[in-house]
Amino acid sequence: MNSTRSATSLSREVRLASRPVGEPTPENFQLVTTQVPEPGEGQIVVRNTWMSVDPYMRGRMDDAPSYIPPFALGAALDGGAVGEVIASRARSVPVGATVSHFMGWREHAVLDAAAATVADTALAPAPAYLGPLGTTGLTAYAALTRTAPVREGDVVFVSAAAGAVGSVAGQLARQLGASRVIGSAGGPRKTTTLLDAFGFDAAIDHRQGGLPEQLAQAAPDGIDVYLDA
Ligand SMILES: NC(=O)c1ccc[n+]([C@@H]2O[C@H](COP(=O)([O-])OP(=O)(O)OC[C@H]3O[C@@H](n4cnc5c(N)ncnc54)[C@H](OP(=O)(O)O)[C@@H]3O)[C@@H](O)[C@H]2O)c1
Repeated sequence: MNSTRSATSLSREVRLASRPVGEPTPENFQLVTTQVPEPGEGQIVVRNTWMSVDPYMRGRMDDAPSYIPPFALGAALDGGAVGEVIASRARSVPVGATVSHFMGWREHAVLDAAAATVADTALAPAPAYLGPLGTTGLTAYAALTRTAPVREGDVVFVSAAAGAVGSVAGQLARQLGASRVIGSAGGPRKTTTLLDAFGFDAAIDHRQGGLPEQLAQAAPDGIDVYLDA
């Protein structure tokens, strides 16, 4: 046991107050002050510093069967988060460690240490563990190494290329040996970012229309791999 700092007793969490119809509005959520429970044996208390808001969360706001359970009405939402361990009753995770875990949407989370992964912030800043080193990065990596493996010399096309998954996918495709990496995104600011920051060879603005023509121009010899992000 190495609980050296007492946990904050009060916390705030965001609960699902009602199921949205169409786009969510602030009325669908409720900010509630709660008491932080004492950690049990093998548990840690995390002060969340970053959380991820991902597209799949909108699906979880509906009461519909999916690969992941819907959010419960009146309960705190959850999802990827990173934070600092402020109390620990687990030998494997010391106080002061930065961890990633799945209890976002709240200021403080009490969870089993086994459900948290210690993040090395000397290697990359904490929020990177919700992006390139988190599930979005893993999604891009699995897609381009398992689902549609990129081979040396491939021409790769990525849609939603300025997004969390697509921006990593473009850079990974290059590392995996792609000869040409093309991305599409909505608007000139994003297409400029694809070229200047993410190293794409060509960028297509799908809001300009003429997608087949733009794509044919960017990939005159065709495409080997398409990642629909
Ligand atoms: N986040 C994860 O860990 C994860 C894991 C597995 C799978 N996925 C899936 O991968 C996809 C991308 O996720 P992400 O985290 O990269 O999302 P993101 O960063 O939010 O990017 C999504 C992008 O999709 C485009 N988009 C939004 N609405 C659209 C619409 N109605 N029609 C066409 N394009 C639209 C927008 O880009 P433009 O306007 O530039 O086109 C937007 O920036 C999602 O389908 C997600 O469910 C995500």
